[in-house]
Amino acid sequence: MRILGIETSCDETAAAVVEDGVKIVFSVVASSAEMHIKTGGIIPEKAAREQLKSIIPVIDEALKESPIKTIDAIGVTVGPGLIGSLLVGIEAAKTLAYAFQKPIIPVNHLVAHIYANFLSDTPPQFPCLCLVVSGGHSDIVLMKGHGDLEWIGGTRDDAAGEAFDKTARLLGLPYPGGPAIGLGAKTFMDKNPDFKLTLFPRPMITDDNFDFSFSGLKTAVLRYTENNKDTDINQLCAEVQQAIVDVLIAKTFKAINKYKPQSLLLAGGVAANLHLRESFAKKAKELDLGFYCPPLPLCTDNAATIASCTFFNQKTFSLKDIEANPELTINDAF
Ligand SMILES: Nc1ncnc2c1ncn2[C@@H]1O[C@H](COP(=O)(O)OP(=O)(O)OP(=O)(O)O)[C@@H](O)[C@H]1O
Ligand SMILES: [Mg+2]
Repeated sequence: MRILGIETSCDETAAAVVEDGVKIVFSVVASSAEMHIKTGGIIPEKAAREQLKSIIPVIDEALKESPIKTIDAIGVTVGPGLIGSLLVGIEAAKTLAYAFQKPIIPVNHLVAHIYANFLSDTPPQFPCLCLVVSGGHSDIVLMKGHGDLEWIGGTRDDAAGEAFDKTARLLGLPYPGGPAIGLGAKTFMDKNPDFKLTLFPRPMITDDNFDFSFSGLKTAVLRYTENNKDTDINQLCAEVQQAIVDVLIAKTFKAINKYKPQSLLLAGGVAANLHLRESFAKKAKELDLGFYCPPLPLCTDNAATIASCTFFNQKTFSLKDIEANPELTINDAF
C-alpha cells in the first residue's frame, strides 16, 4: 500500500510517498529555516506564508519524482503545530483526497516522530519505551502496539529542543540552536575528553517521577555568562548539552527500569544530537536492550514519518472530520 504523507506543522513543508509504512519511495522537505535564522526564531505568520509558497511544488515533486505513481491513501499532520501552517497542508490534502477520491487519515505529528523508527527493514519490538524530544515537546511514552500509547512523563515547561534553542540564543549562536550547541560541545569534548561538566543544574533529576524541567537552564546560563564573560563558548555548549542529556537519560532509564520494554526508541529533532544518541546507545547496550534511533534526516520534521504513521494507524474519516488541532498532545488519538 502506497501512502502520500503531507507535513506542514511548523516551518518545514514536506511530502513523501511511503510503501507499506516501512519503505520510503520518495521524500522531499522544503524548509523556511534560513528565513527564521534572520529573526532568531519562527514568526508564525511568515512560516504560514512560506508554507503556501512551497506546498504545491513540494507535493508535485513528490508525485513526479516517485517512481511509483499510484497512491492508495493520504495522511496529513493535523497537529500540534502553528494553526496557519497546519491549515495549508490540511486543505491541500483534503483537496487531493476529494479530487482523486482517496481515503484521508489525520496524523498526530508527535506520534509520527516515533514512526521514524519504523521506516526500516527491522522495526522495533513492542512494547517500546519512546523518548520524543523535539522543538516544542518532550515526552516519555510507552508504546504497547500501533495506536496503543501510554504517556508516562514529560517536560513541565520548556521542551528539550527549546532549551537548546534558547540557550544558544543567549550564547549568540544561530537558530536552530541544537545543531550549533552540538557542534560547539563536540569541539570542546574532543579536546577535553575527561572534563567534568557540572556547571549547570539538573532540575528534578532525582525526583520520583518521569517528568523534567528545562526552563531553569536558560536562567542559569544567563546568570553564569553575565558573571563569567571569558569562559570558552564551546565549554558552555558542552555544559548545556550535558545538563540536558543527563536529565533525559536519568528519567528515561528510570522508566525502563519500571516498565521493562523490549525496545528503547529515540525520536524528534533533538534525537539528531550525536552525544544524546551515543549516550543512550551505550546505556541500552549495558542493559542488552534493543535501541532504535532514526537516521538524522528523519529526526526533524519530514513527511515520510507522517506516511508511515498513517499506514500503521488506518481508520476511516470523512473530509469534514479532518480539522487542524494546534494543541494536540502525544496522548491524543490524532
Ligand atoms: N543536533 C541537534 N542537537 C540538539 N538539538 C537539535 C539537533 N538538531 C535539531 N535539534 C533541535 O530539534 C528541534 C527541532 O526538532 P523538530 O523539527 O522535531 O521540532 P518541531 O517540529 O519544531 O517541534 P514539535 O515536533 O514539538 O512540534 C529544534 O529545537 C532544534 O534545535
Ligand atoms: Mg517536529
